[in-house]
Amino acid sequence: MPRVLIGVIGGSGLYNIDNLTPVTEVNPETPWGYPSSPITIARLPSGAHLAFLARHGIGHIHSPSTLPFRANIAALKSLGVKAIIAFSAVGSLREEIKPGDFIIPSQIIDRTKSVRGPTTFFDPRQVHVVAHAQFGDPFSVKLCSWLKDKVEEALTTCGAGVTLHTDKTVICMEGPQFSTRAESKMYRMWGGDIINMSVLPEAKLAREAEIRWEMSLLLSLNLHDLAFSPSYSLIATATDYDAWREAEETVTAAEVFKTLKKNADTSRAVTAHILEELNTIVQEGSILSQEEGCMRFALMCDSSQVPEE
Ligand code: ADE
Repeated sequence: MPRVLIGVIGGSGLYNIDNLTPVTEVNPETPWGYPSSPITIARLPSGAHLAFLARHGIGHIHSPSTLPFRANIAALKSLGVKAIIAFSAVGSLREEIKPGDFIIPSQIIDRTKSVRGPTTFFDPRQVHVVAHAQFGDPFSVKLCSWLKDKVEEALTTCGAGVTLHTDKTVICMEGPQFSTRAESKMYRMWGGDIINMSVLPEAKLAREAEIRWEMSLLLSLNLHDLAFSPSYSLIATATDYDAWREAEETVTAAEVFKTLKKNADTSRAVTAHILEELNTIVQEGSILSQEEGCMRFALMCDSSQVPEE
């Protein structure tokens, strides 16, 4: 199995990265079952490899409420992935964010419900510790800051005529139905800029995946290379204006589909443009330093188990 440092999670419309060279497919079983789909290992021109996972499965078989979020993050981690670039189709809550635009958000507001099941790796039914992960900055600040310049450069290079918005707030709703007009307007008042159904609990689990030193947990997970929580960032692609615009029809799946293909093609071009350099800096390590050790003081447990500094 080649060394893989970067995981790409494809959202609606982005079910493959067939512009890169596929090498093999893996389907690791984790303590939380199998990922949404087999993971494609693809080779970059330099010879470095990346892992690609279609979040909704091939043929879009998983609804946001039933996605195997824990298996997805655990499977990527079991391959050694240290940085995750997740793509997602989103609705726009702002006039200036137009369908077709790209967004790198920095904040999340959680509107998901408990139907998603335990949204933690520290499920009391499996492990006897409780973890309170730091989550004030839900995306990797360093990774996002690097991505801003690189995605901008990629969008210019591929000539898609697409605007990139940064430092935005994404509302993550439960779905699968879209929002009412009243909810959509409320999200705007809350400061939401875009809306999707999948960034949570994905971002939370990526943060937790450090699972650094709890030995019984490590053994029960049987995951290797647990030194880092994967740095996680979202590249969102706008497909619609959700439901807040008074004079317009509210969003439908058909409207979302209209821009999905173009957004997916642009996402593939962006991926191909940034990954080579990202792989190099992830290998160097400095972009990961923010997340390194972040779960060290997150676990509430018997003080005799706390590691020495
Ligand atoms: N994904 C794409 N458009 C969306 C919307 N309007 N609401 C929630 N998720 C979305």
